[in-house]
Amino acid sequence: MLLTNLTAATLQGGYGLVADAAILIEDGRIAWVGRRADAPGGAATDCGGMLVTPGLVDCHTHLVYGGNRANEFEQRLTGVSYAEIARAGGGIAATVRATRNEPEAALVVSALRRLDCLLAEGVTTVEIKSGYGLDRDTEVKMLAVARKLGQARPVDVVTSYLGAHALPPEFRDNRAAYLDLVCDEVIPLVAGAKLADAVDAFCEGIAFSVDETRRVFAAAKAHGLPVKLHAEQLSNLGGAKLAASFKALSADHIEYLDQDGVDAMAAAGTVAVLLPGAFYYLREKQLPPLAALRQARVPVAIATDLNPGSSPVHSLLATMNMACVLFGLTPEEALMGVTANAARALGLRDRGQIAPGMKADLALWAAERPGDLAYPLGLNPLRAVIRNGELARGSLS
Ligand code: NIG
Ligand code: FE
Repeated sequence: MLLTNLTAATLQGGYGLVADAAILIEDGRIAWVGRRADAPGGAATDCGGMLVTPGLVDCHTHLVYGGNRANEFEQRLTGVSYAEIARAGGGIAATVRATRNEPEAALVVSALRRLDCLLAEGVTTVEIKSGYGLDRDTEVKMLAVARKLGQARPVDVVTSYLGAHALPPEFRDNRAAYLDLVCDEVIPLVAGAKLADAVDAFCEGIAFSVDETRRVFAAAKAHGLPVKLHAEQLSNLGGAKLAASFKALSADHIEYLDQDGVDAMAAAGTVAVLLPGAFYYLREKQLPPLAALRQARVPVAIATDLNPGSSPVHSLLATMNMACVLFGLTPEEALMGVTANAARALGLRDRGQIAPGMKADLALWAAERPGDLAYPLGLNPLRAVIRNGELARGSLS
């Protein structure tokens, strides 16, 4: 397939713009990209001047869950904090109760509704975490649902086991026994069954300490799984530094990250995943240290964090906008954050850029320039999606 009459944002070193571009796709991969005038011959598909970017990557979601937490949204707006709700048995624990009670088929149906919102905006790879089951069987159920979503829709699903998300109520008086379950039983199981591609944890005062997180990471590494971490979201515990010491793929949230943490991430090649949806919903004041991350050349990704509590955000385009308006990213950084750097946050080197050898996952937009994507709120300019070299949505003309 030879696509012509495109403006291509290749994401090679920034936007990597090619005007009047052509892209040759062979066997599901990009075979060639460049100026149309230099393109190889053959039958061409005229794309009518559309903008083309890599398919978008949402590298941090919790989109499989039961129930909903609109009641907590109302509570928070009467002045109760996210941490107070969590300590009173709501928050993550409320979603755990609902998720344990929902059959797998029902979880698939509700998750597909959420996933479809992301796909309608050009997402071709999505990361999905467990962490609302906490017991072995419900965690396995969540990861199995995530895998099924990838069979039901034209999207690559990457899974993370997030057993260390919250302490389940049945272990209230025995934290060590819960970590035994996570490390000695569930990690070996989900690694062996290939249900999880990585292991995540929530390192925070209301969740797990640095020492507890270290144990989880050691078990993950022992079973060959890469790690990532919810770190420095509400306070600075030094989680990102620990994550970097395990060569983590990413440290996520990181509003309270300090210079030490930035330097450790830079040295380890750990990606900074910013989640402006959670910052927005929780009305946080502490901004992530963007200037220090830029200075240290830490790659920055952004993601929806789609979840029922801190970020019921179903739009990666809106997330790009929030990253610009709330955190001060440039629209170019925002686009890198949902393509090249998001792929890197998942350890995927075969996507996120339009370059020879990369997977032919492309999003085509009714837009003149790539900066148009982060600019509006509530406008969806997507026209077509190509996945593995085949038209998966919309039309090319
Ligand atoms: O990424 N920070 C921890 N976990 C999720 C929120 C989970 C929830 O509130 O249900 C997050 O924000
Ligand atoms: Fe999260």
